[in-house]
Amino acid sequence: MARPTIAYVCAACGGESAKWQGQCPQCGEWNSLERREAGAAPRAGSAAGGKPGRAPRAPLAPAVALPTEGLPARFGSGLAELDRVLGGGVVPGSVTLLGGDPGIGKSTLLLQVAASVAAEAPVLYATGEESGAQVGLRARRLGLGAAQLRLAPETDLEEILAQARDARARLLVVDSIQTVQLAAVASSAGGVAQLRECASELVRFAKSTGTAVFIVGHVTKEGAIAGPRVLEHLVDTVLYFESDAGSRFRIVRATKNRFGAVNELAFFAMTEGGLREVANPSAIFLARPEQVAPGSVVMVAREGGRPLLVEIQGLVDPMRFGNPRRVAQGLDSNRLSMLLAVLHRHGGLSLQDHDVFANVVGGLDVRETGSDLPVLLALASSLRDRALPETLVAFGEVGLTGEVRPVAYGEERLREAAKQGFRVALVPRDNVPRRAIDGLVIRGVGRLAEAVEDAFGR
Ligand code: TYD
Ligand code: MG
Repeated sequence: MARPTIAYVCAACGGESAKWQGQCPQCGEWNSLERREAGAAPRAGSAAGGKPGRAPRAPLAPAVALPTEGLPARFGSGLAELDRVLGGGVVPGSVTLLGGDPGIGKSTLLLQVAASVAAEAPVLYATGEESGAQVGLRARRLGLGAAQLRLAPETDLEEILAQARDARARLLVVDSIQTVQLAAVASSAGGVAQLRECASELVRFAKSTGTAVFIVGHVTKEGAIAGPRVLEHLVDTVLYFESDAGSRFRIVRATKNRFGAVNELAFFAMTEGGLREVANPSAIFLARPEQVAPGSVVMVAREGGRPLLVEIQGLVDPMRFGNPRRVAQGLDSNRLSMLLAVLHRHGGLSLQDHDVFANVVGGLDVRETGSDLPVLLALASSLRDRALPETLVAFGEVGLTGEVRPVAYGEERLREAAKQGFRVALVPRDNVPRRAIDGLVIRGVGRLAEAVEDAFGR
């Protein structure tokens, strides 16, 4: 047995340090190192499957190498949208972390998946969040009756894994990682050491049995799953619910995927009967009133591998005191600051004395530069208190010298706009296709000033 040594574990990232320091050398967080008796707890990568006497592994390495080649093909989750985000179905032996705010629909989604898979193979749904009766009731209410779905109202991970092994489960759901614990680990459920060891144990279990594991993780105030980033390093795939709490639409994004593309999106609507897939996601984001108000511009984004119409809203308001506020929701706030400078220098509009707010309606995160032009048009529209035509769409990157630059998939975006009934597109000149698109007037612009003039006149 290894000599018990005292290590320090960062509460923010889970990284280990030999000695105490004021700042975590791995993630830079202050005052986050906590003392841990290394000998008292099984270490990631050395508890099971590890040969005795083997040196401990590096803290962030996955516990076991992935023997994916020999594994059977993927299986369906029962939800085509989710399958797509996973890269074409569930990979046996893979571990997927599903994060999101409380009440967003994590349990609902995984219960639906569990029931669907259980129609063909054994499934274990371990719930430490709710009682077995509660989950059973919900399953019945959702009309999910699957003979091979076993519910385990358990928080002891050893027990859960024993049951999953017994059942020869094709799928194991752990709802949630914050409620399970390993008796061998001293800290309480939800603590960094527990989260880390439980997740490692689940990864080992998945790799050694071929059972696919879904782990639910609540998002903390800081926006990270369960606090420590280490969970994201350990698992194969990380999915996040990304939605407005007020909206009934739900978006699931893959932020990490060893078996598929990242930033794929799945669209659902929360209904009485659980989560339903949304066939035409553009419609979600475009529930605009008949009379469009100043500050609203529709952009054609490209998210999750397809064009998507989203409404961008801008609000500028004369500042009353202090420093002007710049708030971006669903957009990069540094980029917003840069765009404001460009708007001043090259668009002739100064917002120095204004509070500025920019928002993507529907809770989507738009992380592409194609939103530059629509954001600036929305702000100009708000500043001038003039609405843009409701049938207008825009997209385009804006550079520091005021040039409007083309974005990828221009023609695909324009076709989607036409399909959704838009009549005018204000886009980068280099994105204007050679052949006309039926029903759509395409106006190409080369500079920001031109775009502002085109939209509002001189
Ligand atoms: P839930 O899956 O329990 O969220 P999480 O596990 O992420 O905390 O979803 C909770 C919400 O979803 C709850 O407010 C009720 C709502 N809901 C529906 O609207 N329809 C349904 O069929 C179900 C099961 C839940
Ligand atoms: Mg839940």
